[in-house]
Amino acid sequence: MTISFTGKTAIVTGAGGGLGRQHALELARRGAAVVVNDLGGSMDGTGGSSAAADSVVAEIVAGGGKAISNGASVSDPKGVEGLVKQTLEAFGRIDILINNAGILRDKSFKKMELDDFRVVIDVHLLGTAYCTKAVWPIMLEQNYGRIVMTTSPSGLFGNFGQANYGAAKLGVVGLMNTLKIEGAKNNVKINALAPVAATRMTESLIPKDRLEKLGPELVTPGVVYLCSEDAPTGVILQAVGGRFNVAEIVENAWVDLGADCTVESVAESWAKITDMSAAKPRRR
Ligand code: NAI
Repeated sequence: MTISFTGKTAIVTGAGGGLGRQHALELARRGAAVVVNDLGGSMDGTGGSSAAADSVVAEIVAGGGKAISNGASVSDPKGVEGLVKQTLEAFGRIDILINNAGILRDKSFKKMELDDFRVVIDVHLLGTAYCTKAVWPIMLEQNYGRIVMTTSPSGLFGNFGQANYGAAKLGVVGLMNTLKIEGAKNNVKINALAPVAATRMTESLIPKDRLEKLGPELVTPGVVYLCSEDAPTGVILQAVGGRFNVAEIVENAWVDLGADCTVESVAESWAKITDMSAAKPRRR
């Protein structure tokens, strides 16, 4: 079975390098027309240039694929409107959105300026919301859409120095959890990717010998599957160096302490309340 994207149009944000570039190349190789969005700034979100997105477009076109570039910032709603307009003008439809653009402003929470918090939320959480909101009515109307949020193990499990990033990354999972419900009857499927890969974002964080096994191209097959006809919805797919699994939010059984529950009865029942041995995800 070959999974083809012929006739489909995809927007990949932050696709000028790293993971986004691989996602864009693979979708194009499989026949999608791809809009390569990238602000082209530095890793902390400063600066900007169209060179990175342009070079990925050139690579796709040289390989016989269809692509155009767009230099909008995902955190600028007007720019995102322009991205959607440009996509419709060039290709006439939008089937796939991969929200991948991202920056880092790592610092312990004690040292973090509020501006570092705000800017990271602006790009990851609001940027994802702006792009998703801009394609949402189009996907509902055509009864077809595939959207990927890029979350992170830092958001799901926590990581020292990434309070801003972790908050934003779990935020996109919250957005997915509602949109999977609101998009269901119109065949709009929405999933989240939690990757680990060797990119400029991780080159100073992960030891070199580990990085060699973590090529971003080993994450991309999972993302591209999430963009396919048969995609699931509401899944958090973790992908690292060719290994894949699923992370879920689970809950255990209620412990009923009655109308006369007290601080002491909570304390006495604590082992039972926190017994996760039979925990399950909530199914609607
Ligand atoms: P990267 O830095 O190579 O790629 C991010 C791209 O987003 C860059 O090309 C950058 O120019 C672009 N970008 C940044 N702000 C933008 C904006 N406002 N508008 C448009 N484009 C913008 O990093 P990488 O690793 O490829 O990251 C891709 C995504 O994966 C990010 O969302 C990141 O948080 C996430 N991620 C990466 C992990 C890893 O191990 N590399 C781990 C967990 C999550």
